[in-house]
Amino acid sequence: MTIALIVHGGAWAIPDDEVAEHTAGCAAALEAGWRVLAAGGSALDAAETAVRVLEDAPIFDAGIGSVLNRDGFIEMDAAIMDGNSLRSGAVAAVQRVKNPITLARRVLESDVVLLVGHGAERVAASAGVNFCDPAALIVPREQQRFEYLRQKAQVHAQDAFMQHPGDTVGAVALDAIGNLAAATSTGGTAYKLPGRVGDSPLIGAGLYADNTTGGCSSTGWGESIIKVLLAKTATDAIPQVATPMLAAQQAVDILARRVGGYGGVILLDAHGRPGFAFNTPRMAYGYRTGVETVVSTERVV
Ligand code: GLY
Repeated sequence: MTIALIVHGGAWAIPDDEVAEHTAGCAAALEAGWRVLAAGGSALDAAETAVRVLEDAPIFDAGIGSVLNRDGFIEMDAAIMDGNSLRSGAVAAVQRVKNPITLARRVLESDVVLLVGHGAERVAASAGVNFCDPAALIVPREQQRFEYLRQKAQVHAQDAFMQHPGDTVGAVALDAIGNLAAATSTGGTAYKLPGRVGDSPLIGAGLYADNTTGGCSSTGWGESIIKVLLAKTATDAIPQVATPMLAAQQAVDILARRVGGYGGVILLDAHGRPGFAFNTPRMAYGYRTGVETVVSTERVV
């Protein structure tokens, strides 16, 4: 049976001099996740593995390299969903975990869906997920961005999103027995209010997976993505249009038309056909199927 994997490293105005690092990060995530699938591993394992690689790459706004909030701290959100059982696990506003996606996976394996802050970190301790020093996740680039934004009189969420990474990373995998999984992880938007949670850990908004339709991971301005349940909108569109590319475009068009939102989606349908779309200047993405491997930050013309 077909296996397939698609990943993203965020949709925003990625600067020219960061493009190479974004594509390299997506390529590494694709390779790691593909290895899992090719060895007969599950879609959940592949999606988690790919997102861990993206979280560990400092170029992305997830895990190490996450943006800072207004208090100068990192607060991270992540979620993972199984397209077979529709079970999901999510964490929000965690500060002391190097790979929030693995903590979200532990939540998926529990009998709750979403845990925040200290409660989530307490589960990390009992589930064998290692803690880290929150300061170890802060990179100089983000410390400088924080100082810059702090000195600006006012930060408009929409402007801040376009000019600074507010992006998120994600993956969707299809394994050899036909199961889909989706995973998403983020540091959120630059200079966000402490306690602010975006779309990424919210099922239907930041991700969705259902073996009967497809899987999706969203990226972009969370406050707009939540309003149109972007990931569910995209996966629901898959059976209604000819290709996952059209489904992705339709969802992003709804995001723009209904709420003036910005962002992008990556998709796989139940046969492993990829789709993606974004209405930001760039989105870092990569996909691998039985027939092709693509990694880019640009639109298909
Ligand atoms: N899409 C990430 C966020 O808005 O938090």
